[in-house]
Amino acid sequence: MSTFDLARLLPADHFSTALHHDVQQGLTADPKWLPPKWFYDARGSELFEEITRLPEYYPTRAERAILTARAGEIAAATRARTLVELGSGSSEKTRLLLDALRDLGTLDSYVPVDVSESALTGAGEALALEYPELSVHAVLADFTARLGLPPQGGPRLVAFLGGTLGNLLPTERAAFLRGLRAALDPGDFLLLGTDLVKDPRVLVAAYDDAAGVTAEFNRNVLNVLNRELSADFDPTAFEHVALWDPEREWIEMRLRSLQDQTVKIPALDLPVHFEKGEELRTEVSAKFRRERVAEELATAGLRLSHWWTDEEGRFGLSLASPVETGV
Ligand code: AVJ
Repeated sequence: MSTFDLARLLPADHFSTALHHDVQQGLTADPKWLPPKWFYDARGSELFEEITRLPEYYPTRAERAILTARAGEIAAATRARTLVELGSGSSEKTRLLLDALRDLGTLDSYVPVDVSESALTGAGEALALEYPELSVHAVLADFTARLGLPPQGGPRLVAFLGGTLGNLLPTERAAFLRGLRAALDPGDFLLLGTDLVKDPRVLVAAYDDAAGVTAEFNRNVLNVLNRELSADFDPTAFEHVALWDPEREWIEMRLRSLQDQTVKIPALDLPVHFEKGEELRTEVSAKFRRERVAEELATAGLRLSHWWTDEEGRFGLSLASPVETGV
């Protein structure tokens, strides 16, 4: 019989404290910015699902193609008993890994880690039904703050898919990978999905689709601030901007003010002035090369053992293990 349980590692006021802090910091900075995690309320998550089906947005399909082709190899290389998934969301690609580990006969538990309790219970309970032998131990946590991996159940395969690593700035990324390395035991593995550097036209189109879904996704963060902080942003007074930074090799999404305007954020007692044309950075989505992935993993004490891409070389999937530090 399968089981489902949920551990809450977030204090009840985590969201409101973090949102207040981030908005205060980001909107009083010059240039203004907001962390991308605030896109994902119910509407934002729905819009992101819609993005993954757009003709221009290739990363989801490319990563799925790799997993479809390589899940058997990943299972054989890791012989994992526990699959941990960071930012599990709807757990759609998870089934490819669960199937492969079940077929191999090593699978015992699935640990989805996410900040959304509804995503965890929805996906977790569905998987518990589909995989009758599986124990599902969901963890409500902000994995960029504190990772809460259950200690038992090795070897563990920690999957961080979708290219979400690219949303962290280089220093945040280094800290995150170091924290992840510290949470892994010898014999555990990290499976990491990273979008790759390619023709800037292809990259920009993926973040500025013709149907305008990404533009709506971008502006939705203003609706989140309106609802959660009683702010009075007019989302139609901002336009969506996606640009490629060739030095840093990342895509940036911004919201550009179409007019001089002052927004009130009563929850923070903060008036925020935007000049006409002023831009607010809402997301960085870094793109990688194999050498940079290997280097950043190595700096964190992880050794890249396998590297796979889709046939068109658009997306990379790496498997890495903790470097033995010796005793
Ligand atoms: C979910 C973070 C991987 O950066 O490509 C999609 C989010 N932003 N379109 C990405 C996103 C704009 C996405 N990640």
